[in-house]
Amino acid sequence: MSFEVRPEQPADRESVRRVVTAAFGADDPAHGADVAAIWEGLGHHRRAGLVAEERGAVLGHVGLSRAWVDARRELVEVWVLSPLSVVPERQGAGTGSALVAAAVATARGSGTPALFLEGSPSYYGTRGFDRADRRGFLPAALERTPRPAFQVVLFDAHEPWMTGQLIYPDVWWEHGAAGLRDPRLADLEERFGISD
Ligand SMILES: CC(C)(COP(=O)(O)OP(=O)(O)OC[C@H]1O[C@@H](n2cnc3c(N)ncnc32)[C@H](O)[C@@H]1OP(=O)(O)O)[C@@H](O)C(=O)NCCC(=O)NCCS
Repeated sequence: MSFEVRPEQPADRESVRRVVTAAFGADDPAHGADVAAIWEGLGHHRRAGLVAEERGAVLGHVGLSRAWVDARRELVEVWVLSPLSVVPERQGAGTGSALVAAAVATARGSGTPALFLEGSPSYYGTRGFDRADRRGFLPAALERTPRPAFQVVLFDAHEPWMTGQLIYPDVWWEHGAAGLRDPRLADLEERFGISD
């Protein structure tokens, strides 16, 4: 492993856009550009970005931004991990895992009570995340989020009353990036036999 993980700086903007676009746009370039636009559009909702860099070249990136849990007592600020990107030619060599570990450590160090994401349960489930619905949380897109994909890491600041629905900032809705829609949602449910 010859790369280092470090905080994203303003000067990384173009490199990060290139990496996110390449990772998410491998099959559909427009989707890659859209994911990059979400990260940029999060603006003041961003909490931290991390890049994996090797000899001055950025080959991976992870974004951390804020959202809220709409608990009965009050709105609770939490963090969301998204997007996670590794350039296609360097995937499968541990870069994504290192970025997830660093992102979890950064979120833990911030004092936030919880870090959420929507993603593969097989990938994130072996990297510290658990199903969020089993800890008292509801996804932002209630009808359109396969429950196994809705995942969370809870930290020391989490208290038992901090449960409820995840609320995303506008940018997620503007880009249609909360949950999934058919036919992709139906395909995924069928492929993985997801019914709960
Ligand atoms: C997902 C991603 C960040 C992983 O990065 P990486 O550097 O290849 O990951 P690592 O090398 O640490 O881990 C590789 C493992 O992840 C698995 N993996 C890769 N993509 C996966 C996916 N979409 N779903 C489930 N598992 C995946 C590989 O099969 C491999 O499994 P193994 O360790 O059992 O062999 C990278 O593949 C990527 O950028 N993909 C496109 C963008 C994307 O889908 N991001 C995640 C959105 S939630």
